[in-house]
Amino acid sequence: MALVIAIDGPAASGKGTLAKRLAAHYGLPHLDTGLLYRAVARAVLADGHAVNDRAAAIAAAGRLGPIDDRDEALRSAAMGEAASVVAAVPEVRAALLQLQREFAGRPSGAVLDGRDIGTVICPRADVKLFVTASAEARADRRYREARGRGESVTYERLLDEIRARDSRDAGRAVAPLLAAADARVIDTSQMGIDEVFRVAVTIVDTFG
Ligand code: C5P
Repeated sequence: MALVIAIDGPAASGKGTLAKRLAAHYGLPHLDTGLLYRAVARAVLADGHAVNDRAAAIAAAGRLGPIDDRDEALRSAAMGEAASVVAAVPEVRAALLQLQREFAGRPSGAVLDGRDIGTVICPRADVKLFVTASAEARADRRYREARGRGESVTYERLLDEIRARDSRDAGRAVAPLLAAADARVIDTSQMGIDEVFRVAVTIVDTFG
């Protein structure tokens, strides 16, 4: 039987890592929907437009081709920022809706992660998880990752960036970041990924 798992949450909450692990555990395809918005932003910039050029963003969303999820350039912090600008344009969201619904409608089911999966894309998902953590815990994770890669960043700057992205994602008029009423909330502030995974599997096995 098809199993659809919808995972939402703010930047750096651990939802992407969790989504990958759940997909592997249940043998389901996984779609990181943030990559779609990142790819739209990149196309806008690559064409020489400003990231807040709405017409350019709508056009780019309408002709979005296949995305290589190993493409590291899509995963930069700057592209995440740019993605949150194009993601606030309703027509961009509308252009990406069907692709996401089709993915979720595969015979096996699927795992999708993003900001509006449980609320807009898959309102009838079998399981909805809202993965969150304090801004401080998320900034701390990003800081350790950046330091691990040898980048010189400050914790304060990362905290500011996370807060700015949260308020843009939560404050927009269309599909704001919001836990669905029937989502189960996992606060990962004090948890490692293994514990988050165990909690999530228990929820899926109980309610899925
Ligand atoms: O999750 P990720 O950091 O890759 O997402 C980048 C941006 O794309 C988010 O900050 C958000 O503005 C947007 N996004 C969205 N809806 C989704 C996934 C991502 O608006 N389902």
